[in-house]
Amino acid sequence: MTARIIDGKATAADLRAAVAVEARRIAAAHGLVPGLAVVLVGDNAASKAYVGSKSRAVVEAGMRPFDFHLPVATSANELLGLIGELNNDAAVHGILVQLPLPSQIDAARIITNIDPAKDVDGFHPLNAGRLASGLPALAPCTPVGCIKLAKAVHGSLSGLDAVVIGRSNIVGKPLAQLLLGENATVTIAHSRTRDLAGLCARADLLFAAIGRPEFIRGGWIRPGATVIDVGINRVAGDGGKSRIVGDVCFAEAVAVAGAITPVPGGVGPMTIACLLVNTLRAACMQAGLPVPEI
Ligand code: GUN
Repeated sequence: MTARIIDGKATAADLRAAVAVEARRIAAAHGLVPGLAVVLVGDNAASKAYVGSKSRAVVEAGMRPFDFHLPVATSANELLGLIGELNNDAAVHGILVQLPLPSQIDAARIITNIDPAKDVDGFHPLNAGRLASGLPALAPCTPVGCIKLAKAVHGSLSGLDAVVIGRSNIVGKPLAQLLLGENATVTIAHSRTRDLAGLCARADLLFAAIGRPEFIRGGWIRPGATVIDVGINRVAGDGGKSRIVGDVCFAEAVAVAGAITPVPGGVGPMTIACLLVNTLRAACMQAGLPVPEI
């Protein structure tokens, strides 16, 4: 059997187009142009590439970008000063501080100082708590993208056995909460989990977010399962070039799974599309407008 390849690029393009339609409608009807502030501290090459893609997507969706690039030696207080200004700027509806931050800045302190209403990353403890309580919340973009891809395959996730490998605040934990909200039966696994292969073998839905290149082998996967690979790992390739691989050994998994996301072109594009959705939602909520169902 060869798995169906889940085309995250195409799904993300559809989502971005839907956001652009709504953004145009809201601008015409209410004069509201959603604004997203993206803050990069330092010169991490991968982070630079990510924030560049985010800003381009914001413009394409008919929203307003506010880009800030601060030097690597920026202090926590300087960054908090900028966050305070953005919290008070009515034209800014969403604030994203790209992670990781340089070591002198405590990311948790920065995140908790972002206005929760503008927290389009969904990382603020208030939004994390609302998500865990089943209340409406701005939810983290990568997990939301994972759910949309799984639903593109299954329709309903109700009653399915889901295994999430990874327990980060950015992906693993919120993904588990979202899956519970979809009535899946959820197990969270991590680096100390015993018999990971045995656990994976039970999963109808397997989500890999551990940041270890090609760690999950094809033989661990239940035949016919849906595999969503969140990993983005740069490894040495042929001829001295590097290549990007996921947390799942794709070449093995594609022969066993029922459906699988490629890396690149799976979850990655969905993250940016879901960021646009969150920015649109945040802008509507701040303006007291109904939140579009996208
Ligand atoms: N770094 C890696 N992923 C993310 C993300 O989703 N949001 C932010 N702010 N930083 C990241």
